[in-house]
Amino acid sequence: MPLLPRRGVRCQPLSAITPWMCSRRYSIWFLLILLVVCAAIQTFVAHLARNEKLNGLPYLSQEISTLPNALVGINHKSSLALQEESRSKHMERTADLHHQYKRISSDGSLKGSVAEMRSLAASLQAETKNGLTDQMHLPKLDIKGSLSLLLLRHNERREPHESNKEQTFKTYPASAILKTTSNNVYTKESCQPKSHIVFLKTHKTASSSILNILYRYGESRNLSFALPLNKHSQLFYPFFFASHFVEGVSSRRVSEFHIMCNHMRFSKSEVAKVMPTDSFYFSILRNPVAMMESIFNYYKSIPAFQKAHSLDNFLDNSWKMYNTSLTNNHYAHNILAFDFGFDNNVTARTDDFEERTNMAIAGIEQDFDLILISEYFDESMILLKHALCWSLEDIVSFRLNSRSEHQRRNISPDTAEKVKQWNVLDWKIYLHFNKTFWHQVNSLVGIEHLKKELSQLRALRAKLANTCLKDGHAVDPSEVKDTRLKPFQYGAAVIQGYNLNPDLNGQSKLICQRLITPELQYTDLLYTKQFPEKVAKQRQATKMVASQHQRLKKTSMMKKLYKREANQRHIRNDPNIF
Ligand SMILES: *[C@@H]1O[C@H](CO)[C@@H](O)[C@H](O)[C@H]1NC(C)=O
Ligand SMILES: *[C@@H]1O[C@H](CO)[C@@H](O)[C@H](O)[C@H]1NC(C)=O
Ligand SMILES: *[C@@H]1O[C@H](CO)[C@@H](O)[C@H](O)[C@H]1NC(C)=O
Ligand SMILES: *[C@@H]1O[C@H](CO)[C@@H](O)[C@H](O)[C@H]1NC(C)=O
Repeated sequence: MPLLPRRGVRCQPLSAITPWMCSRRYSIWFLLILLVVCAAIQTFVAHLARNEKLNGLPYLSQEISTLPNALVGINHKSSLALQEESRSKHMERTADLHHQYKRISSDGSLKGSVAEMRSLAASLQAETKNGLTDQMHLPKLDIKGSLSLLLLRHNERREPHESNKEQTFKTYPASAILKTTSNNVYTKESCQPKSHIVFLKTHKTASSSILNILYRYGESRNLSFALPLNKHSQLFYPFFFASHFVEGVSSRRVSEFHIMCNHMRFSKSEVAKVMPTDSFYFSILRNPVAMMESIFNYYKSIPAFQKAHSLDNFLDNSWKMYNTSLTNNHYAHNILAFDFGFDNNVTARTDDFEERTNMAIAGIEQDFDLILISEYFDESMILLKHALCWSLEDIVSFRLNSRSEHQRRNISPDTAEKVKQWNVLDWKIYLHFNKTFWHQVNSLVGIEHLKKELSQLRALRAKLANTCLKDGHAVDPSEVKDTRLKPFQYGAAVIQGYNLNPDLNGQSKLICQRLITPELQYTDLLYTKQFPEKVAKQRQATKMVASQHQRLKKTSMMKKLYKREANQRHIRNDPNIF
């Protein structure tokens, strides 16, 4: 009874909703349910706390959460088969991992398995990485494959693309008009542009265009040229080259030479004294038949050709007209062999002809990294681009030092045979290197890729002609307005030149100007840049001579003096008479 009033007191203030709780029967049920719920909550919390004590689990769940990302990465793989294979492999591994994770979750005592799990996760991650690395290697393996596919793949990888672009920009300071959408993405990843170069400039082989390419490349990068001593236009051709023919060698004014490319009669041992040991040696050959026709017209004034009224006339009487001991007659006979430093006075009847031929070919192969072919000039430029690891913009050029078309003559098959016999050594050399040229195109570029780059090169050249040239093409020298851009004329040939588009200015004008600057003017320009103090001294001396002339003007001596000087100037300017 004493309990009742208390219970009554407690129950009394309760609202009308809960009076049923006050009944004893309902109270017992309520407490029972409460107890069960509490026990359940406690067990659950204890279970969670125990799980969290297992270190490594947060790490593992992280690993597992990265798996889908990894799989997404693998999805980018271009090779479908590879993708499927690694995908299923990863799926298997992932399932395995999930399975083990479940086991650990349900059985807290599996602590030892955590290490195992970690290594499994680590190996999985490594595999994923390898998968991505494989993908990065793909463009390199695909050098000869389709360029557009390569670019497509390349664009998929955003970050490497960005960094690559930067690299490209650094290596090749782009200019507004020379910008192309190209190209050779892989080349820059896999090779370093070469800048130690020896070019043996041969005669009437489109070598002036290559000289222009080398001049522009070197000038824009401040490379040093091994230029002829005292502003000569050639390295004292036709004498065998000697290291002291190069300006700055004897005086030790230049510490390192990058490019040597002026006319010389080749001598490897002497060139090697001047140029770095890792220099890239290359040259260009032309079919001796077409070459002979060109040489006969250009060098008409040499003793051997003087009395000949036609090329056939010369070939029919060659041994009467050709006297080896007369100056400049070497132009008339196996000039390629001569320029490479071999004895050119050879015919098929020479006793050791076979031996000499093999020696010449083996010698050239040993000394030169690349021999280009004039008949395949554009192909040659693509091959050169790959060999030097340069860009398309670096090897584009206009035809320089070239005759106008109407001066070219067709050669009859009969004449062609006579030329092959007369210049049989050159002919054998040409046939050999025409073969190796195509082998190199196949191994270094690939025919399919070559076609692609050829059209890119031609498109770029057309674009440049459109931008740079007033008439869009070459014109006869009488039509060249700017005397500084007038090509040197020699012999009976009419060497064409170009007029600059008058709308150009700034950097574009400079680039266009360099593209059409003839050989002699460009050589002068580079010499002045490289040896300004020598040029200043020479100018001073010329001024003094000029003022002396002024004083002597009225004397009878003057006429004689002028005549002599004019004669000397003619000899100096003639690139073929040193
Ligand atoms: C070349 O040299 C000139 C003058 O010294 C300098 O202004 C220019 O930045 C250099 N160019 C390169 C590509 O090094
Ligand atoms: C070749 O030229 C030299 C030098 O002028 C001369 O002595 C020689 O007689 C010439 N030979 C022939 C076959 O004309
Ligand atoms: C050039 O070759 C011809 C024919 O073999 C020979 O008669 C002549 O002596 C040679 N000249 C020289 C300078 O070797
Ligand atoms: C040079 O090689 C090409 C390709 O093999 C061939 O078509 C061409 O006839 C060769 N030229 C000569 C003169 O043999």
